[in-house]
Amino acid sequence: MALKLGIIGCGGIANSHMHGYLELGDAVEIVACCDINFKKANEFADRYGIPNRYDNCYDMLKNHQLDIVSVCTWNSAHAECTIAALQAGCNVLCEKPMAMNAKEAEAMQAAAEKAGKLLMLGFVRRHGRDAAKARRLVTDGALGEVYYAKASYLRRSGYPGGWFGDKSRSGGGPLIDLGVHIIDLSRYIMGSPKPVTVFGATFDKIGARAHITEGGEWQSQTEVDQPIFDVEDLAVAMIRFDNGAVLSVETSFNLNMKAPSNTIEFFGDKAGLTLDPFELHTEYDNAIADIVIHGDNGFHFQPDFDKEVKNFVESVQGDAECKAKAEDGVLLMKILDAVYESAKTGKSVDVV
Ligand SMILES: NC(=O)c1ccc[n+]([C@@H]2O[C@H](COP(=O)([O-])OP(=O)(O)OC[C@H]3O[C@@H](n4cnc5c(N)ncnc54)[C@H](O)[C@@H]3O)[C@@H](O)[C@H]2O)c1
Repeated sequence: MALKLGIIGCGGIANSHMHGYLELGDAVEIVACCDINFKKANEFADRYGIPNRYDNCYDMLKNHQLDIVSVCTWNSAHAECTIAALQAGCNVLCEKPMAMNAKEAEAMQAAAEKAGKLLMLGFVRRHGRDAAKARRLVTDGALGEVYYAKASYLRRSGYPGGWFGDKSRSGGGPLIDLGVHIIDLSRYIMGSPKPVTVFGATFDKIGARAHITEGGEWQSQTEVDQPIFDVEDLAVAMIRFDNGAVLSVETSFNLNMKAPSNTIEFFGDKAGLTLDPFELHTEYDNAIADIVIHGDNGFHFQPDFDKEVKNFVESVQGDAECKAKAEDGVLLMKILDAVYESAKTGKSVDVV
């Protein structure tokens, strides 16, 4: 039987979720959507021929017995909408970041456990071919012991506008928006070690850089009268895990640099691995050597969203193992909380 779907939040990313659901054909019946901006809900419903549209999630959840829900709102509404959907008996695919902080994330995980429903996180990078191949290389021991990783998601001019700079709705700047992707992906590829200590620093030296229009990065579809930018524009952090490995992270909306970057390097005692381009770095015959692994080893935005949505639906149907569970989201939020706390105090913070 088709799973009945509702979408909460009808902005930019909701379209990527819809594409994934439409790819699944008869397995999913698209029943309703909602947005607190009713114009958005109407436009979205018209675009996809969705029969029911609402200006809040509570009426939608009350009027329809939905099986699955995508939460695609701004970050401050993730916890409220996810918990409401779980309590209404739905399985939920919630966009990243899981929540504004670890406390909210834990409440979401508890609601999922109480309801006995799946809460999956939108860690779309876990669904890329680069993630799968890198994870396999690590599992097969090709890198040996991975003791250090360096993750970089630096934009030179890439503030997404809308609510992304408004801390009350975003929870933070590039760390919670972009850093979440690369920290989660690094941890996933490293075999999901537990974070123990974090040292972080954040800066707000450049701000929104709203007067520069080029950049071509993701833009929020939310219009704002009075733009707010009270988040960091650069965050850096060192995260130590329980297996002794360390991850160094840097992420920015705006930074005076030459070349923006979005890549991760893993360093093992047998070989290193760079994700983009996908290359192994090692030694051979008493010389240092690089091995280029040809083929499709990349991350592809929409196709990998389709895979994420498919994994969600198949997990609900009991046909697949969910790739991004609530517990991973909670740990990630604990790391982010610790980076922000460390940035405030100037001291290392234990992750408990
Ligand atoms: N996985 C990715 O690569 C990726 C990419 C972009 C955005 N995102 C995430 O997706 C989420 C949405 O981002 P976006 O760029 O689509 O934002 P957006 O501004 O385009 O749309 C957000 C929508 O949520 C609606 N909304 C807010 N609170 C609501 C509530 N309580 N109930 C119903 N609707 C509500 C807003 O009115 C708005 O229309 C964010 O959490 C963001 O971090 C993920």
